[in-house]
Amino acid sequence: MATNRTFTMIKPDAVADQHIGDILAMIEHGGFRIVELQKVTLTPERAGEFYAVHKERPFYGDLVKYMSSGPIVAAILEKDNAVADFRTLIGATNPANAEEGTIRKKFAKSIEANAVHGSDSDENAQIEGAFFFKS
Ligand code: TYD
Repeated sequence: MATNRTFTMIKPDAVADQHIGDILAMIEHGGFRIVELQKVTLTPERAGEFYAVHKERPFYGDLVKYMSSGPIVAAILEKDNAVADFRTLIGATNPANAEEGTIRKKFAKSIEANAVHGSDSDENAQIEGAFFFKS
């Protein structure tokens, strides 16, 4: 995968609250092209594998439960400087610290149910994209 791509998930609460369209619109208006898109429900095993880097953190068990609690929308996005620009568009992990106009400021409910995921490096964007999409 080229370095002008990133990976995102719209998380279970945002899907359940019918914000898929609003969030995809913010993504497209932010200049990102949707390359791949898939709605899927993660098993606890798959969610645990995706967040394996956080295995030792105290929030891991709850995070795995939350991420497998309902469907998510996974996508690969393309734009110059995709990883950094997407992190700017989504805002801080904790919505209390997220800037106005960011996706998390608008839709996140808590630090756990924070509406969207965005890869934090080109390397992780590639690994995470490949976790969901073959191409
Ligand atoms: P992290 O990789 O630190 O944040 P980001 O998603 O912004 O890259 O954490 C991964 C996810 O773990 C985060 O989106 C929500 C969850 N999480 C918690 O539930 N509690 C916490 O204290 C932290 C730091 C993260």
